Amino acid sequence: MDVTLTLPIMQWEGPFDPPAQEAAIAALEAGQVLVLPHLGFVLTGAEPTLLDRGALDDSRKNVSFDPATGTTLGTGFAGAELATLTAMLARFGAQAETLVRGLLPRYAPTLERARTSFRPAEIAGRAYAPRKDDRRLHVDAFPTRPMHGKRILRLFSNIAPDGTPRAWRVGEPFADFAAKFFPRVRGPLPAQAWAMERLGLTKGRRSAYDFYMLGLHDAGKLDRTYQTDAPSYPLSFAPGTTWMCFTDSVLHAAMAGRFALEQTFHVPVAAMARPEQAPLRVLEKLAGRALA
Ligand code: SIN
Ligand code: FE
Repeated sequence: MDVTLTLPIMQWEGPFDPPAQEAAIAALEAGQVLVLPHLGFVLTGAEPTLLDRGALDDSRKNVSFDPATGTTLGTGFAGAELATLTAMLARFGAQAETLVRGLLPRYAPTLERARTSFRPAEIAGRAYAPRKDDRRLHVDAFPTRPMHGKRILRLFSNIAPDGTPRAWRVGEPFADFAAKFFPRVRGPLPAQAWAMERLGLTKGRRSAYDFYMLGLHDAGKLDRTYQTDAPSYPLSFAPGTTWMCFTDSVLHAAMAGRFALEQTFHVPVAAMARPEQAPLRVLEKLAGRALA
């Protein structure tokens, strides 16, 4: 199976052909990266100047925008620059949502738009704690936001002004990865989910699924042999390219690049055309029991 599906889409807003919609959904659910090389996010007004200046608060790797509250966190910008940055993130998120609703209509009724992020910092050559090092192959899992099986769909755009591509690697199918690591990962201890919620460590209660996904994320990143020897395939996304995938099932590593925008969506398993491909269902098969 190819690791990508490339479509010649040039606009954020449809209508899109039903065959393109079906192909996009099938590819994403099968664990492919959907690449749109002709769909760029166009900066307007004062936005290009944001890329010349340090948008980042030094302690953070990303700036994040919450569309529910309209607030932007993780930036040292204030005043007019903060307003420009916030407007750019809001506009990018809205365009991303328009595209996802139009291209993936079966997800539209239950789609949730979560955080938008701006990733200005160069990835290569920085120091990261091993678990936070996204240059290591991993599947995404949220430590504080329990998902109970809900999918994480992420859309990225490279907006680098200087031609810098964003370099990824993608790994083996989720089911193969999970079969290797699931036996090594422990589920929750009795009352652990309850205690973490009470202590405010999680927003709501973690399911067994959440514990296993975080365990897979960490175990994969910390396994040096896996990181060097597991099958992986390099991808390069030029500026002006938009791409998306279910990052909870696509093993991915971001190796180099700067100035990306990203929008996260949550998609219920029940909205999928092939729910058996959800990590929840794959892990439940391995566990022999319900996990959420
Ligand atoms: C990641 O989700 O691991 C990082 C992706 C990126 O910033 O390109
Ligand atoms: Fe990731």
